[in-house]
Amino acid sequence: MSGESIDGPTPGRDEKRLRRIRSFVRRPGRLTPAQKAALEELGPRYALPDDCRNLADAFERKVPLVVEIGCGNGQALIAMAEREPEKNFVGIEVHEPGVGRLLQGLAEKGLDNVRVVMADAVDVLARHATPGSIDEVRIYFPDPWPKKRHHKRRLIQPEFVGQLALYIRPGGLLHLATDWQPYCEWMLEVIDAEEGFVRLDHPLTERPEWRPRTHFETRGARKGHAIADLLYRRAGR
Ligand SMILES: C[S@@+](CC[C@H](N)C(=O)[O-])C[C@H]1O[C@@H](n2cnc3c(N)ncnc32)[C@H](O)[C@@H]1O
Repeated sequence: MSGESIDGPTPGRDEKRLRRIRSFVRRPGRLTPAQKAALEELGPRYALPDDCRNLADAFERKVPLVVEIGCGNGQALIAMAEREPEKNFVGIEVHEPGVGRLLQGLAEKGLDNVRVVMADAVDVLARHATPGSIDEVRIYFPDPWPKKRHHKRRLIQPEFVGQLALYIRPGGLLHLATDWQPYCEWMLEVIDAEEGFVRLDHPLTERPEWRPRTHFETRGARKGHAIADLLYRRAGR
């Protein structure tokens, strides 16, 4: 199945007004010629079809669907898609060079259980997810926005977590990791307060073997940061 464009939805005027605060800053990163070529040549192969109302419909094979939000250069996504071939994956990321590298990696490995959307995950889920349609959401090392005045930019907010509870099927999983202890505490406070999620005996202080190492995890560990993994199950059956 080939998609039209790797760029996700363009927010309408109302959406722009409602959501001025973004969890990322679009920095005009320098694209290498290889990343540029990957975006142009491989982008359509891994994009969602234009009329895709439900992320799961981007695949012909109906198997569990995992969504990784903020997948960066795709190090973890590629490893997970390779290690869990029985699942479909959607990676959502706004950073162009990262998406370019991800596409290169997917093509090198010949993976076809992955689709990629280059847009704000909040908009992508609002447009392309239906209630209970996602089996797992994985969010690894989201930007910690350490300054107090920037906390409102953190991706993990009560409203967004409420949306995740809507889109993840009962019994499905939400897995997060961070190397920033204050963000870990924030996540625990926000997600514990969402009755749609049940915390599974965490935060873990050791990286679970099923989570591949990511670029930002390596950076955090080099600075001596402790890594925490948080795992929640969507309540209900
Ligand atoms: C600190 S990086 C971590 C990247 C990767 N997960 C890792 O561990 O190496 C956070 C990433 O999330 C992306 N991001 C932040 N908010 C996002 C959003 N609302 N939608 C999509 N991507 C987002 C950023 O562009 C950035 O690449």
